[in-house]
Amino acid sequence: MSKHIAIGVDIGGTGIKAAPVDLRTGEFLEERYRIPTPQPSTPDAIARTVAKVITKFNPPTKVPIGVAFPGVVQHGIVKTAANVDDSWIGTDLRAIIRDYAGHDVHVLNDADAAGYGEFKYGAAHGRSGSILMTTLGTGIGTAMIVDGTLVPNLELGHIMIDGHDAEDRAAESARDRHGYDWEQWIEQLQKYYSEMERLLWPDLIIVGGGVSKSHHMFLPKLRLRAPIIPAELLNGAGIVGAAAAAAVSTRREKDESKAAEKSAKDAAKKAAKAAAKAAQATPPAAGA
Ligand code: BGC
Repeated sequence: MSKHIAIGVDIGGTGIKAAPVDLRTGEFLEERYRIPTPQPSTPDAIARTVAKVITKFNPPTKVPIGVAFPGVVQHGIVKTAANVDDSWIGTDLRAIIRDYAGHDVHVLNDADAAGYGEFKYGAAHGRSGSILMTTLGTGIGTAMIVDGTLVPNLELGHIMIDGHDAEDRAAESARDRHGYDWEQWIEQLQKYYSEMERLLWPDLIIVGGGVSKSHHMFLPKLRLRAPIIPAELLNGAGIVGAAAAAAVSTRREKDESKAAEKSAKDAAKKAAKAAAKAAQATPPAAGA
């Protein structure tokens, strides 16, 4: 595999998907591989499935692998689990996947991955200002990219609207759960995005998730200040963003370890020089 390849894995409420990504273009190099999310979606069951989707592409050890998770992931540890088993909370995501897959991975929130993917290769490519990425799926994922910097782990799908968790009414899954027709769901989306605008004043809003394929059914009906547009990578954004983020973090880790090695060497040299100088300056012992 070339150095321009990384593998992205997206853990969703209904499917676990992966593909190798060309980091120069953000395109999939092979067809995406998907396995339904095991139920119950416990850490062991999910990590085993993630290992399966990774192994399918047989990656050499050097290839960066990014794994997007549907909850807050802080310093590798899962902190919330709205749409997967509660036993995830407190789990070391990076370690458990490494154990099952036998490969080191970079881990991050799924909406952060999707937002990063859209910023690097998709609808927000190279855009400055405040960009709000939202993913409508089992839950609502949100990511904010401000002048190219991702603000991680924003959980704006859980703001309260009319006394309800917003994602309960406005996620794609809410259509089935509440039996909404398009019009009823659009009403919920309008409330949600109006609230987002009232609080955040984004310059651009991007909508991803499986339903973004049918964007013409709902996006033109929303009345908002900022332009609201479909994700260009559709529901591949999480895979692409996870792969790209893994490549960046692998490079950063390498640079950091090189810098640490160099400063340890420099310190050793300095100490040796100082010791030699001290030895020269020390007068010979009496009678020597
Ligand atoms: C979770 C988020 C996640 C989103 C999309 C929400 O319920 O709290 O962390 O990004 O679902 O999966």
